[in-house]
Amino acid sequence: MMAWDRQVVIKSPQEIEIMRKAGRITAEALAAAKAIIHPGVTTGDMNAAAEEVLKKYGVYSPFKNYPGPYPYPASTCVSVNQELVHGIPGKRKLKEGDIVTMDCGAVYEGFVGDAAFTAGVGEVSAVAAKLLEITEGALYEGISKAHSGGHLGDISAAIESYVESRGFYVTREYTGHGVGRQMHEGPQVPNYGIPGRGLQLRPGMTLALEPMVLVGTAATRVLDDQWTVVSWDGSLTAHFEHSIAITDGDPLILTAL
Ligand code: MF3
Ligand code: CO
Repeated sequence: MMAWDRQVVIKSPQEIEIMRKAGRITAEALAAAKAIIHPGVTTGDMNAAAEEVLKKYGVYSPFKNYPGPYPYPASTCVSVNQELVHGIPGKRKLKEGDIVTMDCGAVYEGFVGDAAFTAGVGEVSAVAAKLLEITEGALYEGISKAHSGGHLGDISAAIESYVESRGFYVTREYTGHGVGRQMHEGPQVPNYGIPGRGLQLRPGMTLALEPMVLVGTAATRVLDDQWTVVSWDGSLTAHFEHSIAITDGDPLILTAL
C-alpha cells in the first residue's frame, strides 16, 4: 500500500522459525481481542486487549507510528461494517449485528507477523454471515495456491474468482504483500490476477495474503481521519489475513495460534 519498488527477501529456515514466533504472538493478540467482542465493548477495548498480549511478550506492533498521512496512532486497526481497513480504534461502541475487523502485527526478534480477522457482534444478518464465510474462504483458497514453482498470479486469481463467483467484490486499491524484517516488503500480492503470471514462488518467500472483500462494489474512499478506508457505497466489508511461508511442500501459516 505504499512504495512498491520493494525487494523480495528470501528467508532461511531459521528466520522462518523466528517469524513463526512473531506470528504466534500476533495470533494470540488477535484471539485476545476476539474473545472480548460483545455489544457495548469499544474498538479501543479490543486494541487494549491485543496490546496486553504484545506487552506480555515484550514486543511492539509494527503498525504504531507507521508512516502515512500522519504516523499511524495505534497498535492495531479496528474497522467496523463499511470500514474495510485501517480503522483507528477508539471510543466507538460495538453493537449487536455489527461486523468488526481487527488487523494486528507484532515484531519479534526483528521479524514481523501480520494477520487480521473479521467477526460478528452477536447475531448478524445473513449477508454479513455470508461475507465473513466467503472472505475467510478466499484467504484459505489463496493459501492453497501458495506452492513453490507456482506464480503469484495463481494466488491472486484464486482469491478473485472465489469471491467474485460468489457475488462479492475484491478491492483493487489495497493489496497483500511480502513480510519479514519489514511489514511491507516486495512483492505486492493483489487480490485479483491471472494464473501463471507474476513472480514465481520459491521456498523461503514469506507473504501476507489478505483478501479485502466488499458486498456492493469494489470502490473505496478514505475518511477525513485520512486512514480509515470505507466502501464507496457504504456496503459491508470484511478482511482476513495470514502471514505464510512458501516451502518445498505445503505452505506454512505463520500467524496460526
Ligand atoms: N496490516 C496492514 C497491512 O497489511 C497494515 C496496517 S497499516 C498501519 O498492510 F498503518 F496500521 F500500519
Ligand atoms: Co498486511
